[in-house]
Amino acid sequence: MTVKVKPLISSAKLKKKISDLAKKIDKDYRGKELVLVGVLKGAAVFLADLIRAIKMPVAIDLVQVSSYGASTYSSGVIKIKKDLDLPVVGKDVLLVEDIVDYGYTMKYLLRFIGHKKPNSVKICALLDKPARRRVRVPIAYKGFTVPDEFFVGYGLDLNEKYRNLPFIGTIQK
Ligand code: IMP
Ligand code: MG
Repeated sequence: MTVKVKPLISSAKLKKKISDLAKKIDKDYRGKELVLVGVLKGAAVFLADLIRAIKMPVAIDLVQVSSYGASTYSSGVIKIKKDLDLPVVGKDVLLVEDIVDYGYTMKYLLRFIGHKKPNSVKICALLDKPARRRVRVPIAYKGFTVPDEFFVGYGLDLNEKYRNLPFIGTIQK
């Protein structure tokens, strides 16, 4: 089976969007103690670029969850594989995610981090795929709304491949 990737969002577009998101974050969290929490592994590339576009001082941390199901969707049964290292009591947490699909992962993490008593917890997602949403999750900072297709590149994978592409594209089978 030959798999081709059809480019959809160029690296220039990603760069511009990340700069806009970073400006909003700088403005909204001014004077606050912001902790950006990236969701491994998909959000790693986005997080790395986003933190360098943000000017205010921020702390970063990482979480990893596992969801059981086929590789192209999440089952809704989610477990923590890697917890936060930093205490976030009284801090403002921004969850940094690659893509919100069904919404299970973000719903779970909002609750999980909420239990740690932060001052606030919000979501910054590079991609929003609303077509398949099963649970409502508020996305405070959104990069792009995308159609119901499977995306790879810029951190997003298909069976661990394509994360290193500098753009985002769809898989053509
Ligand atoms: P959900 O919102 O709980 O369905 O889970 C979102 C997670 O599913 C993301 O963090 C990705 O890991 C994965 N995912 C959903 N859609 C895509 C896609 O189009 N490409 C790559 N991963 C995806
Ligand atoms: Mg993910």
